[in-house]
Amino acid sequence: MTRPDTRMRRMRRDDFSRRLMRESTLTVDDLIYPVFVHEARGRAAVPSMPGVERLSIDELLRVAETASELRIPAIALFPVTAPDAKSLDAAAAWDDEGLCQRAVRALKSRFPGLGVITDVALDPYTSHGQDGITDDVGYVVNDITVEALVRQALSHARAGADVVAPSDMMDGRVRAIREALEADGHVHTRILAYAAKYASAFYGPFRDAVGSAGALGKADKSTYQMDPGNADEAMREIAQDLDEGADMVMVKPGMPYLDIVRRAKDEFGVPVFAYQVSGEYAMLKAAAANGWLDERRCVLEALLGFKRAGADGVLTYFALDAARWLREG
Ligand code: PBG
Repeated sequence: MTRPDTRMRRMRRDDFSRRLMRESTLTVDDLIYPVFVHEARGRAAVPSMPGVERLSIDELLRVAETASELRIPAIALFPVTAPDAKSLDAAAAWDDEGLCQRAVRALKSRFPGLGVITDVALDPYTSHGQDGITDDVGYVVNDITVEALVRQALSHARAGADVVAPSDMMDGRVRAIREALEADGHVHTRILAYAAKYASAFYGPFRDAVGSAGALGKADKSTYQMDPGNADEAMREIAQDLDEGADMVMVKPGMPYLDIVRRAKDEFGVPVFAYQVSGEYAMLKAAAANGWLDERRCVLEALLGFKRAGADGVLTYFALDAARWLREG
């Protein structure tokens, strides 16, 4: 009879030693909850994201109360712009009375301790659904777009956003936003740069949720979002955004890009976040709805995977459920 040299299973035998040697853990401190806000009253379901709803500001405050009670550190806001407020220059993006700005003010006055993160990008506001201002052949023009993003970020900071998160992938926007924030006295406003954001098909349900899918049509974002085949380029993007003044960086989507999360953490040692995007949510929900996957166990395992890959936190539409499940133990 042969004996193994090492019995790896010894430490796995009992719950106590499994717990002692566990390298990564998921806690509520790792969760950021993305929410959709709309001008309409009440709530509206997002068909491709079962369990996710667009919320009026009143409903948003109810959800924020739940998130606060669960001790979720932060909420990320995504406004749904009414079609008649969209335009070629996306001017509604920096309207101090805009939906996003009103939502931020309402949240900060009711729940000052709950972190509020806003998305800096023009896609909810452009009539064509691109993240920036386009030329006459539909190409997103970098430097003009950066000027608009600066206005948008300043407007969010004035409303009280704790974190502005440029998700547009224009070059040079982090430095421009940082300089404008400093010049305007917003020295505490953090920048979470979507540094490595890929031109992904996993954003489909999100574009339904914010209503940019129809506007975008068959166009895509591959002239500014990254090619899914690239990893070195992601490191250059991250280096650049950090040099320009980002406090944290984001990798997006999440699960198909965990190698990027790991490299980002190893190479830079800065706060790294990952976005488990709408398509990832939809996949897990669909499989669970069919009875093919155990939702709770798979979601917690997927979220733990982000931590193991080196993420400091995860933006996830499962945040409320995950926080409840973690509390139940
Ligand atoms: C756009 C933006 C997108 C998401 C967040 N901000 C989609 C896009 O690039 O079209 C996607 C998030 C998700 O899929 O959950 N600035």
